[in-house]
Amino acid sequence: MSKARAVLRQPLSYRDSCIPPGIERLQQPVALGRAIELAFLRWEKRDLQPTARFWRDFGMQVVSATDDRLVARGAGSAPCIAIAARGRSDRFLGTAFLMSDDTDLHCYIGKWGGRWLQADDIPGGGRGVELIDPCGRSVWLLQGQERVDPLPMRGDLVATTNTVHSTPRINRTVRTPIEPAQVVKLGHVVLQAIDFSSVAEWYMRALGLIPTDVQFLPDGSPSLAFCRLDLGSKPTDHHTVVVVGGIEDKYEHSAYEVIDLDAVGQGQQVLRAQGHRHLWGIGRHLLGSQLFDYWLDPEGFEHEHYTDGDMFTADFETEYSPLEFGGIWAWGADAPESMKPKRGGRMLLKLLSLLRRKRITPQRLKLLGSALAAPARPWN
Ligand SMILES: [Fe+2]
Repeated sequence: MSKARAVLRQPLSYRDSCIPPGIERLQQPVALGRAIELAFLRWEKRDLQPTARFWRDFGMQVVSATDDRLVARGAGSAPCIAIAARGRSDRFLGTAFLMSDDTDLHCYIGKWGGRWLQADDIPGGGRGVELIDPCGRSVWLLQGQERVDPLPMRGDLVATTNTVHSTPRINRTVRTPIEPAQVVKLGHVVLQAIDFSSVAEWYMRALGLIPTDVQFLPDGSPSLAFCRLDLGSKPTDHHTVVVVGGIEDKYEHSAYEVIDLDAVGQGQQVLRAQGHRHLWGIGRHLLGSQLFDYWLDPEGFEHEHYTDGDMFTADFETEYSPLEFGGIWAWGADAPESMKPKRGGRMLLKLLSLLRRKRITPQRLKLLGSALAAPARPWN
């Protein structure tokens, strides 16, 4: 049987107020509190040295390095965007969010199972509560963290871009500084979850997140949510937390904003020169519109550089579109097959176990499989 050919087209998209029958809305629950920033990610690593080297080459500033703990910041005002503690395994431990002043952290103690954090555990101080999400991952909710002065950053190179419409750059050249892509901030984290509905609902309720773009399977059920922070009338990134329905509960990737496209491109050259493993890019995402470049850290965890992402205020309507592998990017190199679940005996055993434990239905598995298997581009 011949394989269906993909065509280049803009994907279908429906505003929340006019989604057609058969597409299920992702209901936004009443929130307990409101996250205002993705503060940092926490890691456990057996050997901290390769992580410190990768972080520096990736453009983070390592501000503290002991035998047992690494702390890194970006050039923005956050005192910390990543922590790695030395341990017995290489794993993602969890996320930390800054919460609005009007969030009552006491709400998360008790029924939500939260516990108060020790002040010493929190870079930048303040107070915080640790929750455990439905996948068993740690989520820290913080308030009162001290900010730091931003670091010097180079100015815009693209302010003088020549186009056919305008040539402001005369008798001047473009010479991008040869340096790591200076990371300004931690932008978003993408989490895969077997039980998409309950995990997406949990994050929206705990953090007051707003779904910006929701992707649905052929049966109309939501299976991926790009969620942004609720900052009211202040524009915020298209997504800060993404929940992806899948066959594992796992960290997918985290993304770090850099100054501009030249930083992404020159940063790629520096990472290549230092021998790090490139994954995918440079390209432009469709949902979120970021110019991206993906790298693997020493243990194979995905890290993304990005710039030029979309910004939205809280009142922008949620949009719905079909889930398609080819819809991850607008242009650029084809997404590598390694971004899909690895086929093989281990995967088969995992799927059988999920089915036996009724963690996933055969129907849902089939729909997920068809969304991933459809050719992404006419040349695939
Ligand atoms: Fe991303």
